[in-house]
Amino acid sequence: MTTYNIMLLPGDGIGPEITAEVRRVMAWVEKAHGVTFDVSEGLIGGAAYDAEGTPLSDETLDRAKAADAILLACVGGPKWDGKTAYDKRPEAGLLRLRKELDVFANLRPALCFDALADASSLKREFVAGLDILFVRELSGGVYFGEPRGIEDLPGGGRVGINTQRYTDAEIIRIARVAFEMARKRRGLVHSAEKSNVMESGLLWREEVTKLHDAEYSDVKLEHILADNCAMQLVKAPKQFDVILTDNLFGDILSDAAAMLTGSLGMLPSASLGDGGPGLYEPVHGSAPDIAGKGIANPLAAILSFAMALRYSLDMGDAADQVEAAVSQALNEVRTGDIWAEGFDRVGTTGMGDAVLKALG
Ligand code: IPM
Ligand code: MG
Repeated sequence: MTTYNIMLLPGDGIGPEITAEVRRVMAWVEKAHGVTFDVSEGLIGGAAYDAEGTPLSDETLDRAKAADAILLACVGGPKWDGKTAYDKRPEAGLLRLRKELDVFANLRPALCFDALADASSLKREFVAGLDILFVRELSGGVYFGEPRGIEDLPGGGRVGINTQRYTDAEIIRIARVAFEMARKRRGLVHSAEKSNVMESGLLWREEVTKLHDAEYSDVKLEHILADNCAMQLVKAPKQFDVILTDNLFGDILSDAAAMLTGSLGMLPSASLGDGGPGLYEPVHGSAPDIAGKGIANPLAAILSFAMALRYSLDMGDAADQVEAAVSQALNEVRTGDIWAEGFDRVGTTGMGDAVLKALG
């Protein structure tokens, strides 16, 4: 019997509640597919800071590195905002994990489930059938660039510094992922940067073009300025197939696209490197305002587990089943964030029940 080592990092806020539903789906996959998930749990974010004095301990990191896949829920909350040293804030644990695992390719599908097209902030005809894949660079750029910090100025006052920095190698490896993904989809890549303002954006455009011309001329490549990309996303989102972008623009643009799909509570993500475990997390945050109430939508976390099945565990069939079950569950019940007239309003466990019922 195949055994997979899975590291669970429930994190903060609604993390533990939604992770509990993921565990139920994991148990179903074990039974249905005759595999064993050897689960190891760890602390990250504020929960880790409270218990261990750091948002990600070396011990947790080592266990994560040894796993086949890491399922993270979410980190952060007002309990720690501005109340911990900056390098000990919950988000620092997440960023360290991404960096140490060198998961440079963040795949964020923005898919509009037909049942949710009316929950979008755009009219149904603009979003029904929407299927965009963001390929966001995740381990470089301004998130990690040096120098950085807050310094006193000689004549008084202070300066905040961050550095946007990309090497050609970093650009090429993420662009390659985007072109490979596009080949399996509709064959179109929009590469978003600000080459009209930033040298790092100009290098991005040049390197993406070079790689495209040398190896991927069968894929259609469009360059788009990141601000225009934001506008086009809310104007005519269905023109996009794959959007390739850096760490910061990818963070912002993927949130905007998420909202088009009806709810941030629906979107999963996968972060992959060259070998090593993949890191799977919902795009949404820890939603401290509803934490502990049992009303959070667990579907993004469940869909993130489906991505783990597909990309790290070579169980594409099981991934298809979980995704289909989510679709089916949406035809019957809704959590508050996606509730609409005519549907039973359920909580976190109720949504888990509906997914398991659909799995059969
Ligand atoms: C995301 C989040 C993170 C990011 C935060 C929590 C550090 O917004 O995954 O999109 O900015 O990358
Ligand atoms: Mg974000």
